[in-house]
Amino acid sequence: MTEPTPDHIMQVGLGFWASKTLLSAVEMELFTELAKHPEALETLQGRLGLHARSSRDFLDALVALKFLERRDGKYYNTPSTDFFLDKRKPSYIGGMLEMANHRLYPFWSHLTTALRTGLPQNEVKDGSPDPFAALYADPARLQEFLKAMTGVSHGANMAIGRKFPWSKYKTAVDAGTAQGDLITQVALANPHLEGTGFDLPEVGPIFEDYVEKNGLAGRVKFSPGSFFDRPLPKADVVMMGHILHDWNLEVKRMLVRKAWEALPEGGAFIAYECIIDDERSTNAFGLLMSLNMLIETPGGFDYTGADCAGWMKEAGFRETRVEHLVGPDSMVVGIK
Ligand SMILES: C[S@@+](CC[C@H](N)C(=O)[O-])C[C@H]1O[C@@H](n2cnc3c(N)ncnc32)[C@H](O)[C@@H]1O
Repeated sequence: MTEPTPDHIMQVGLGFWASKTLLSAVEMELFTELAKHPEALETLQGRLGLHARSSRDFLDALVALKFLERRDGKYYNTPSTDFFLDKRKPSYIGGMLEMANHRLYPFWSHLTTALRTGLPQNEVKDGSPDPFAALYADPARLQEFLKAMTGVSHGANMAIGRKFPWSKYKTAVDAGTAQGDLITQVALANPHLEGTGFDLPEVGPIFEDYVEKNGLAGRVKFSPGSFFDRPLPKADVVMMGHILHDWNLEVKRMLVRKAWEALPEGGAFIAYECIIDDERSTNAFGLLMSLNMLIETPGGFDYTGADCAGWMKEAGFRETRVEHLVGPDSMVVGIK
């Protein structure tokens, strides 16, 4: 029998110290600065506007947390922070961390209230039934949210581009596409494919800009609309990334049915997010994401592969399978 230790309890209980240190570093664009060249303490202190009392502890804490390296008195990015947290690189995923810093961090301080009331604790706290209407009322918030989605989804999007048997299909639609990274990665990895991103009209210009920057303007187009008001555009493959978890069970079932209606016989529906393991005991990220949906939406929740396969079967899909993508993300595939 090993003696119990408090290590894990303290590490998670005070985990927000490390989290907020990283979020502040992203906010100050520290990694973007260091991607230009390594810097000494005094130069960084001046450039980031750090107080002399905090700068050494802040930077050395980031070294100890393995987000920076220090050699010969200079601070360097690690290979990961250089690749993923330099704002000038297309591989930047800090959008999600920027949003976590501005929005989620303060909202999560009301988790206990959310747990007791079952009510969201973000901009829809006043009772608006559509979380996106409140979020998109401010153009800066819209832009930040859509970029954040690319940050959180990019690894899985590339995996879907590579892993799914795309050679069998000619067209794909990504419903709730945000900036369009999923359809972009799928189209980049599969030059024979034509793609459509479907989302609310205000998302259009941000989507089109992203697709153009990736050189896909001729092959990937935007289709505006709300999935509450119209059918999904028809395609051989319908994809939904982090969509089903935004909504209550009734809307989830409606969206799965709309995916089925948009597909031809033999077409495929891919629903992906941090799918919770069927035992609901190991995918902590998926379970915490579900609590994040409690904070962010009036009825959303994350779900297991078996839950989703059940809704797919109910809608008429003849075959389903769950396939791991990257990290906590998996896709549930339904074949019509
Ligand atoms: C959580 S984000 C997911 C974005 C992206 N699929 C991903 O995985 O990164 C949800 C997306 O659904 C879109 N959305 C919300 N309500 C919608 C509606 N009624 N019709 C179409 N899209 C909607 C939002 O604009 C947003 O882009």
